[in-house]
Amino acid sequence: MPLVRFSVSIEKELVKKFEKFLKLDNYKNRSKAITDLINNYLLEKKISISGNPTVAGVITMVYNHHKRFLTEEITHLQHHFIDVIISTQHIHLNEDKCLEIVALKGKYDRINELYTKLKSLKGVINAKLIISD
Ligand code: NI
Repeated sequence: MPLVRFSVSIEKELVKKFEKFLKLDNYKNRSKAITDLINNYLLEKKISISGNPTVAGVITMVYNHHKRFLTEEITHLQHHFIDVIISTQHIHLNEDKCLEIVALKGKYDRINELYTKLKSLKGVINAKLIISD
């Protein structure tokens, strides 16, 4: 794709902070970092404007499998969302914790509904949803 150069004016302090974190994130140049920011912004806008686009995504969650009924609840929920779940991967992290990765494709609202339900279960230590179009 053809590239365009454009100039923007940003407060010096903000650029300093931005560049500090670019290094931590291993970005080799500003262009790639700003392209990623714009793409994320556009995806968020697309979801909020078009309402309910078809997206691909991943839910990662870490939970305590000793929590009573939690494993059953997670399995139960996933069976109710087989229309958007492509696959799941389960990793036993240690004596207590499990990591589960759920690959998804489907309408954003449906995927977000599953995410909201999973993350609010008692015993789920953290859950994240990553979306791509
Ligand atoms: Ni496990």
